[in-house]
Amino acid sequence: MNIPKGTIPKQTQFFYGADYNPDQWQHAPEILERDIELMKQAGVTSASVGIFAWTALEPEEGRYEFAWLDRVMDRFAQEGMFVFLATPSGSKPMWLSEKYPEVRRVNKDGRRDASGWRHNHCMSSPVYREKSRAINAQLALRYKDHPALALWHVGNEYSGECHCELCRTAFQDWLRQRYGSLHALNSAWWSSFWNHTITDWRQIQTADPSIDALQLDWMRFVNDQHVSFMLNEMIPLRELTPDVPCMTNFMGTHESNNYWQWAEHVDIIANDLYPMPADCADSWRYSIQSDFIHSLMRGMSGGKSWMLLECSPSSVNWGEINKLKRPRSHRQEVLQAVANGANTIHYFQWRKGRGGFEKYHGAVVDHEGTNQSRVFKDCATIGSELAQLSAVHSADCPHAEVAMLFDWESRWALNASRGPKVIKSGGPFAGDLYTELCFDHYEALTCCGITVDQVSTQSDFSRYKLLVLPALYLVTQELADRIYQFTQCGGQVVATCMTGYVDLTNCCWLGGFPGAGLKELFGIWNEELDNLHNDERVELNGQFGGFARDVVERVHLRGAESIAQAGSEFYTGHPLITEHICEAGHAFYLAARFECAVLVDFYQSLATRFDLSRNLDIDLPAGLVFRRRESADAKYGFLFNYTQETHSVDLKGLSYSDLLAESNCAKKLELKPYATKVLRI
Ligand code: GLA
Ligand code: ZN
Repeated sequence: MNIPKGTIPKQTQFFYGADYNPDQWQHAPEILERDIELMKQAGVTSASVGIFAWTALEPEEGRYEFAWLDRVMDRFAQEGMFVFLATPSGSKPMWLSEKYPEVRRVNKDGRRDASGWRHNHCMSSPVYREKSRAINAQLALRYKDHPALALWHVGNEYSGECHCELCRTAFQDWLRQRYGSLHALNSAWWSSFWNHTITDWRQIQTADPSIDALQLDWMRFVNDQHVSFMLNEMIPLRELTPDVPCMTNFMGTHESNNYWQWAEHVDIIANDLYPMPADCADSWRYSIQSDFIHSLMRGMSGGKSWMLLECSPSSVNWGEINKLKRPRSHRQEVLQAVANGANTIHYFQWRKGRGGFEKYHGAVVDHEGTNQSRVFKDCATIGSELAQLSAVHSADCPHAEVAMLFDWESRWALNASRGPKVIKSGGPFAGDLYTELCFDHYEALTCCGITVDQVSTQSDFSRYKLLVLPALYLVTQELADRIYQFTQCGGQVVATCMTGYVDLTNCCWLGGFPGAGLKELFGIWNEELDNLHNDERVELNGQFGGFARDVVERVHLRGAESIAQAGSEFYTGHPLITEHICEAGHAFYLAARFECAVLVDFYQSLATRFDLSRNLDIDLPAGLVFRRRESADAKYGFLFNYTQETHSVDLKGLSYSDLLAESNCAKKLELKPYATKVLRI
């Protein structure tokens, strides 16, 4: 495959479209024509087709029906539009699920699912692997030379776990591969605890919360098993259509999938994101969480463009309270993804179905069926704006000077460890302690106007000035050494509470936290962890003032200097923020979860000391964010007002033109609530 990551050979502008389910409308052929007409009006370039269409494609085992899909593909081609053709493994035909019960998942209690629902196939089942490969081969054979085929949408939102005997055996084999011997497994798992010493591989269970190393390995296994399922699906696609890129839709920071690993196997990163409507008290935080997830996708595609493959044009239907999006907020969400490097904006869904679980989910075309709805008009405006911005699609987001490590392994290990405070934050991206700490630091850096590149444990840190390691709970010696080398070469490091507690198998480092030599790097010893009630706060005094919450560590100086200390509790006076000169760099340790204001002050001081550049050399009002995309011959700026107030901004020395302005721009830019400006600078 010679397609460079992040590119779709057939793409010459922003792709704009939706998940499209013509398989549900076969009884009404006029709908296809009506849809094509409406798509043209809305500026649609592309659609994902056939995601849940297995039964329409293969109504009985081995009998295929493609006439309906031929029509869709041909009509798209005639109109110069593209299809992201889906492989249909996301939900199983009834005939298949009833004939081969092994394709259905088994839950932790050993009960097999009934037929139905979706995203619930056993990912180890040889039958399901064989059947999905067979239908994929048929699709690839039939459409390999079709001009409408732009890329493969492989599966849908792979996730979840299965505890059937096939999965259990596969897990045991996976462990045998990883550890080689039972002795190695038992010592890695600390399994003498509560009589868990394994004396035969077949004794190993898929779930046992008392063995935290087992849980961590189970997360790794489930992730690997999904990836191997996806790779199995791709075999015929790679063989028959080597020039058609493959992607699958990620789910942002979803807990169970280590997307850094998935990213290596797909040609372009694609993500689904459903932010909450921006009219609640937490809307700023939600906007920044979306921004964080977009930047994670940018990181996974190595700074190259990626796809926002699903978002809702209005409300979703699966929340408790499904609010409509307020004026401008949807446009802002779209442009936020674009500002972070997305070159595709697709919705779930093009047209509302008449029945089923998602009949009230937002769609471009309502049950009413015309171009008269508010949402349709909104989408059509966005479609024409994206067409106007088409030059932006060949510009990339510039590399940042600050890197943040987002690490599923640390998150899994922390969540499998009993003791530290469990946080389950609400909101669209339900966070745990790990992700909330990441969000906190990203938010503070964003408030300082500093862009962050997200990196994995495998990334090269050397191009960055500052490396932020939120809650790097699981640390291997190899990683710790690379962090050390980074400071040797003059890099600055920030670590937080929950750093360096465990090794690769979730066993605690001995000799004091943070382990693997990080104690020396940060010049501290973290002796104890205090967990606070939700409404409790610990004061912070010193160079930085404010409050700590949720988790506070009691640390001692071992070479570092304390720059801010606890101002309350029995550990008053103990260091809570420390600085250590280590080799050519500085290593900062933040021994608690802090409120945002503390982190903003902290990063502002780092920005001054270490000369970190801001996206714009202007102090913007709180809640406004500026982002950039640049190509060899043009620079673009995106200015977002994430607040519920109107702001007027003077961009001072910056010369720019407002690309989507209705009238020629004044000296000051006026941004209404949730308004976004796209500037050529
Ligand atoms: C997911 C799925 C879609 C649809 C949407 C609804 O992202 O991939 O099929 O169910 O959710 O929000
Ligand atoms: Zn299974």
